[in-house]
Amino acid sequence: YRRLRIALLGAGSVGSQVARLLLEHADELADRSGAALELAGIAVRDLDAPRDVELPRELLTTDAETLIVGSDIVIELMGGIEPAREYLLQALNSGADVVTGNKALLATHGAEIFDAADQVGASVSYEAAVAGAIPIIRPLRDSLAGDRVDRIVGIVNGTTNYILDRMDVEGAEMADILADAQRLGYAEADPTGDVEGHDAAQKAAILASLAFHTTVPLEAVHREGITGVTKQMMDAARHAGYVIKMVAVCERLTGRGEASDEAISVRVYPALIRREHPLASVHGVNNAVFVQAEAAGNLMFYGAGAGGVQTASAVLGDVVSAARRHIAGGAGVGESTRANLPTVDIGQVVTRY
Ligand code: HSE
Repeated sequence: YRRLRIALLGAGSVGSQVARLLLEHADELADRSGAALELAGIAVRDLDAPRDVELPRELLTTDAETLIVGSDIVIELMGGIEPAREYLLQALNSGADVVTGNKALLATHGAEIFDAADQVGASVSYEAAVAGAIPIIRPLRDSLAGDRVDRIVGIVNGTTNYILDRMDVEGAEMADILADAQRLGYAEADPTGDVEGHDAAQKAAILASLAFHTTVPLEAVHREGITGVTKQMMDAARHAGYVIKMVAVCERLTGRGEASDEAISVRVYPALIRREHPLASVHGVNNAVFVQAEAAGNLMFYGAGAGGVQTASAVLGDVVSAARRHIAGGAGVGESTRANLPTVDIGQVVTRY
């Protein structure tokens, strides 16, 4: 097999599992992709930090910039805006394909990253950025590219679903459950991002951009977190036949109310869901995304929304695809994976609904 040099940036709960699977399944991944995926190194902040998985010491480095040089595929799982943005631009400018799970970066600097990729004909794949293991980026970008998506309703944050579910089922307190969610590797490094709805808002912006073929700025997403949800509210909801779930809604408002014909609304907030509704049965760290499309009708995507090894599955799928592209056409085959080309005038994004 032709050898492809892989650089991994970040060895947190997802990154360390990606490294393990790349090493343990090397033969199988080579057969699938047609290339020997050679993990050249893993850039970390602290060589001695405790990790979920024991990684070969000789692969660890604190020098991400040098690691990126000469790489065919750069996997970015560090999170945060900087220095992740700088490293991805460096990778793309050197012609590498990029695989990332960085929703914060894509929701705020997506256009810049996609532009950089288009300039050199490299690809940016980000299946892991939304809803953990669930395939939702490619279905929206590719499978539904010929249809017209009208609405997406989903649970896209595992941590808040896990918290609300345990509050509902066990009557447990939010703070105690959050500590568990962190220990289990569901929560972001700073869990405020989860409980205040920032993580879900970033994912909603990414989904809406794909679904509606536009660029939805993060500031346009109406956001409410779950910190105000109390045990009393959960009890009251239960007695009335509801459950409280943190949802993301992305929809076209065509012909509705005062909205212009082209308006869309993107919002994340804790909502009352009827017990009979399928979203009410999404327990624990699972996510679910319902997509309503004009021709396809209703589609439902369900599975683990967070977790290191689960999310690593989505990352590896992107790595295999990127490797196949390399093998098929060499580096820089010119296939852009950009999906949010601003080709549609969305007119108005309604921030409150
Ligand atoms: N903190 C995120 C969540 C991780 O809980 O959903 C997956 O994106």
